[in-house]
Amino acid sequence: MLSTDHLISIKELQKSDLELIFNTADEFKAVINRPIKKVPSLRDITVANLFFENSTRTKLSFELAEKRLSADIINFASSSSSVKKGESLVDTVNNILAMKVDVVVIRHSYPGAAQFLANEVQARIINAGDGAHEHPTQAILDAYSIREKFGTLEGVKVAIIGDIVHSRVALSNIFCLQKLGAKVVVCGPKTLIPKHIQSLGVEVSYNVDETLAWCDVAMVLRIQLERQEASYFPSLREYRTYFGIDRQRLEKVGKDLVIMHPGPINRGVEISSDVADGPFSIILDQVENGVATRMAGLFHVSEKIRK
Ligand code: CP
Repeated sequence: MLSTDHLISIKELQKSDLELIFNTADEFKAVINRPIKKVPSLRDITVANLFFENSTRTKLSFELAEKRLSADIINFASSSSSVKKGESLVDTVNNILAMKVDVVVIRHSYPGAAQFLANEVQARIINAGDGAHEHPTQAILDAYSIREKFGTLEGVKVAIIGDIVHSRVALSNIFCLQKLGAKVVVCGPKTLIPKHIQSLGVEVSYNVDETLAWCDVAMVLRIQLERQEASYFPSLREYRTYFGIDRQRLEKVGKDLVIMHPGPINRGVEISSDVADGPFSIILDQVENGVATRMAGLFHVSEKIRK
């Protein structure tokens, strides 16, 4: 059983919660590779997927995970809802819950939206990304994918490279990877690294070549142009020259690195196509593992409803 009622942030999870989710994900990964990919684990549980921000991977993998677990599901997109007529978040969710919904999966641009809902409404909440705060299920699937590659997270050297300051993926991964014993360096231009990030126990590098030489795993993050109000670097071309991960840069390192990216990718900016699609990339394994790990998260959050 998880130590928390909801799945809102990695910060509040214990190492044992993460290990529990991984072990359950192992079972579900075996299930979804069988000819019959469904189990009845969430029969009679109703899940609402509330996406107030765009998503491809997270939305579809939650939906598929719920279907594989035999849950009843409803999907909500704010762009076609009464939010457009001014309905508040709490009113929207309470109206959805009146239809006897047990679990709410929410993505919202407001950091803290998932915790706010957990405080205000009667349902189990899963955070599918809240502003630049956390994206816990992304960090879980990332750590699970590293564990699959190395057998453990203990001692694995992970570099998170790119737009750290706007990234909920970076923050959740820093908490998650460190709880599981990995060593973490964040790397990028000074302007894209939060000032006091060392207080989270990570090291900071502004030199991508040195960072690549150090790490076992390069987790490349998207330049989030849509969240950047100011100019954080002179041009995309300069970003690519100094921080972009391409084949030439990897060849200079002279060792095999695991390449990750949470998606969506800006091809030719933070990562070149030959690296994203190359032999060391596990980007599509991350997407595949999103289904099994989200099945595990949904299963353990819903376990609490049945108690
Ligand atoms: N990694 C991720 O959260 O992708 P989406 O925005 O497509 O869900």
